[in-house]
Amino acid sequence: MLTPPYNIGKVFNGKKESWGSDTQYLEWCYRWLDVCIRKLSSDGSMYLMAATQNMPFLDVYLREKVTILSRIVWHYDSSGVQARRLYGSLYEPILFAVKNKSTYTFNTDDILVEARTGAVRKLIDYRKATPTVYNSHKIPGNVWSFSRVRYRMPEYEEHPSQKPEALLERIIKASSNEGDLVLDPFAGTFTTCAVAARLKRRSVGIEIDSKYVGVGLRRLRFKDATAFVTPAPKKIFKQAADMDCQPDLF
Ligand SMILES: C[S@@+](CC[C@H](N)C(=O)[O-])C[C@H]1O[C@@H](n2cnc3c(N)ncnc32)[C@H](O)[C@@H]1O
Repeated sequence: MLTPPYNIGKVFNGKKESWGSDTQYLEWCYRWLDVCIRKLSSDGSMYLMAATQNMPFLDVYLREKVTILSRIVWHYDSSGVQARRLYGSLYEPILFAVKNKSTYTFNTDDILVEARTGAVRKLIDYRKATPTVYNSHKIPGNVWSFSRVRYRMPEYEEHPSQKPEALLERIIKASSNEGDLVLDPFAGTFTTCAVAARLKRRSVGIEIDSKYVGVGLRRLRFKDATAFVTPAPKKIFKQAADMDCQPDLF
């Protein structure tokens, strides 16, 4: 799972991400992408998230080295500050790529979603000898809707670009099996590792900021590391029953 800083001026624990130029940022990305490709197992998959403006360059770079199987759009609800003179940003792109398109793991049955037909009643297939209800489940398409991690959600941590557990869950279930190893070299609050642990996968998370490593130690319940744990954020409000209805606090 590759979720690098996006080079859009985000502040991570008081430090603003900054590269001299777009070219320098992309060259930095190409270096760690090469390492990740080298380390990826033959049945492994890569999911890369990046800013919309950088993804086309990374896509062109990667397609020479791996097989890109899906270009996914993670669509989310609008954020607090609404665009006034342009179209607001409501998605992040995700590339799904594999090293070997004949051997990669893809657990279809573990990620099925309800196929929305628009019909109120279930559709029946009358062509069969015994009419049967149409299969109402399908593999998700390449537009995914998951709420962004908001202040009042139980999983919220103090991090400017924490990814939702539900999104990581779909990816990890689809592309790994129990006991497999999942790598997140830009672990942030260690969401990938926390979800991997819940799903009985092993994981390695790499993170440059010790405050976020402390969050990871807490989320992963490391027993011998209490001195390094970052305390859970204090939430002033009670948890909302319906996360999608809460007012946007960002
Ligand atoms: C987009 S965030 C990752 C979000 C994370 N996947 C999550 O869900 O919480 C990028 C993270 O990369 C970290 N980072 C930046 N440069 C790094 C480096 N050279 N090595 C490791 N981590 C780095 C930042 O501190 C930040 O937490």
